Amino acid sequence: MNSATINRRRVISGAASLLAAGSLPLANNPARAAKEFRLVSAPARLTLVGAQHPATEVWCYDGRVPGPEIRVRQGDRLRVVVENRLPEDTTVHWHGVRLPNAMDGVPHLTQKPIAPGGRFTYEFECPDAGTYWYHPHQSSAEQVGRGLSGALIVEERDSVEVDRDITWLLSDWRLLKDASISGDFKNMHDVSHGGRIGNVVTVNGAVRDTFEVRAGERIRLRLVNAANARIFALEFEGHAPKVIALDGQPVEPHEPPSGRVVLGPAMRADLIVDLTGAPGQSFRVVDRFYASLNYRLLNLVYSEEPPLREPSARDHIRLPSNPIAEPALDTAERHKIVLGGGMMGQMRAAILDGKRADIRTLFQNGLAWAINGVAARGHVHEPFLTWSLNRSYVIEMVNETAWHHPMHLHGHSFRVISRNGEPTRHKEWQDTALLAPRERVEIALVADNPGDWMFHCHILEHQEGGMMGVIRVV
Ligand code: C2O
Ligand code: CU
Repeated sequence: MNSATINRRRVISGAASLLAAGSLPLANNPARAAKEFRLVSAPARLTLVGAQHPATEVWCYDGRVPGPEIRVRQGDRLRVVVENRLPEDTTVHWHGVRLPNAMDGVPHLTQKPIAPGGRFTYEFECPDAGTYWYHPHQSSAEQVGRGLSGALIVEERDSVEVDRDITWLLSDWRLLKDASISGDFKNMHDVSHGGRIGNVVTVNGAVRDTFEVRAGERIRLRLVNAANARIFALEFEGHAPKVIALDGQPVEPHEPPSGRVVLGPAMRADLIVDLTGAPGQSFRVVDRFYASLNYRLLNLVYSEEPPLREPSARDHIRLPSNPIAEPALDTAERHKIVLGGGMMGQMRAAILDGKRADIRTLFQNGLAWAINGVAARGHVHEPFLTWSLNRSYVIEMVNETAWHHPMHLHGHSFRVISRNGEPTRHKEWQDTALLAPRERVEIALVADNPGDWMFHCHILEHQEGGMMGVIRVV
């Protein structure tokens, strides 16, 4: 035994006696070990579109797309050692998790980027059960577009009764004829229109024809939209799935409006799908978001096995709520956030680096969008809003553009309370709210997490094209 070990022993036994004396806060209880994972970001060659095509060189975690599904239980401490073997800097952002600012993975704002060959250890508690995901926040349009993303599942303390708990991480790729990734990232057409919408959609990293199910079973289906820009509107033909959570947070169970589960980039939905078909049947899952581009995502194919149980033998599932502070709407401070820019918009100029710049100058700098008249670039920003810790806020977001924008706030979940002046039915908690062209959406939250938090469009080309900013909570 060397002396370092002995010293550590002494320190540990010292801490133990302090604990016995009741002088250490419970949060430092060393008995609560973190669950540890390792992630390596690196290039890899994978088959995305089937064996008849060449493999695709991607960037990914642990050599697979999506990265490994990380599963912990609510309240667990998670520690992830990230090793960067990419040819450039990276970070990992834990999308939707209400974690301490220093673990948020935003380069230059919350940490130094991880250089090639370097490592960074993320460690935080997961306060909320639900479906989350992780991705780089460095050069995200290119790094996510090349395949870096994975699901983070925080299980409820008491497990939810379903036959299978399944994740479909949806990715969108722009591939050339030889199945290689098109290198035209951040081109001004994508930036100023709807973002980089690709030509291949994968479910868990592969183009799939079928998903096997059994009659009578009940599936919890966790959908994660990990695409740069594509919005999905999934219809499960012949089935009536119920939405039980959005962006990880429980919601009053409901059938999605018009039977379509709409997910902007970064958004998640947990569905309960009761397999009410008969053995041997097959049903399409169709994406109908873009009117002219409907396509079949895959088929639900029933095995020949007899039904697992009678359809009537199932209770409704309602998830326990997460410990999120309820905003006080009557005393909340109000702010307006105006989204401007893009093709067919009215924006003629914006503030760039503190100076007025006309639209041509903005374009020459790769920018096409603004929040409250400011086009942001790079990663260090002065906050455009400063909030007081634990105060309630209502933000009215006004989309003055001709495009959809999934607007994401880091470090918090917020309630979506109205759309175009109409109260929402479910006051759903989200971390990313999808705004249709010209739509006005009000959100409400308690600013209870101190730090500098990104607020940005999750169409990654819009984000890098200026639609981002920082909100400071002090
Ligand atoms: Cu999913 Cu700022 O990110
Ligand atoms: Cu946008």
